[in-house]
Amino acid sequence: MREVGELLGILTAILFGLAIMNFVIKFVNRKWVMKLPKENKFKQSYPALMKFLIKNHRFFGFGAAILMVTHIVVQVLFAWVSITGIITASLAVVTVVLGVIMFQAKKRNPAMLWAHRGAVIALIAAFLVHVITKI
Ligand code: HEM
Ligand code: HEM
Repeated sequence: MREVGELLGILTAILFGLAIMNFVIKFVNRKWVMKLPKENKFKQSYPALMKFLIKNHRFFGFGAAILMVTHIVVQVLFAWVSITGIITASLAVVTVVLGVIMFQAKKRNPAMLWAHRGAVIALIAAFLVHVITKI
């Protein structure tokens, strides 16, 4: 069961990664793709990928949260209660709550976007500590 727990942790991290692509895909677009010539094939197919990642962003976020719960249940039962894991999970909950508030708001608030992004940066740091130390 420990391997199952580990696998669930990895799947959770992959879905977080897909949610984080929301930022990466826009960044690459601004810095690089927009500067390519109009005829460029890569530039022509890029918007479809960008749209897919942005449109499904909240589902990747929710999916990660659900997988995270399964990872926690299995690890608490069959491995140990990880303190760094709890910190990572708490930051994930904060991120999702901020995301939901922003999603429901009629007008996008830049402070909220920065709070959401900030929670993600803390989440990445906590996740790395969790996976490296496993404490
Ligand atoms: C957002 C939250 C979390 C994510 C993304 C996450 C992800 C991961 C990943 C990727 C691993 C490494 C698997 C490997 O080395 O193959 C791992 C290991 C582990 N996680 Fe989490 N985790 C999270 C939260 C938690 C929580 C809250 C707990 C427990 C209370 C926990 C308990 C563990 C334990 C005990 C291990 C080590 C398993 C072993 O080496 O057998 N994790 N986690
Ligand atoms: C825990 C998983 C999540 C992560 C890692 C994450 C990550 C991110 C990141 C990095 C951005 C910045 C993108 C940019 O700079 O434009 C962003 C934006 C945003 N996120 Fe999340 N997010 C998560 C969950 C959610 C959820 C569950 C929702 C909504 C239900 C949500 C709603 C939003 C909204 C509305 C934006 C504003 C930009 C846009 O509409 O694309 N996020 N998220």
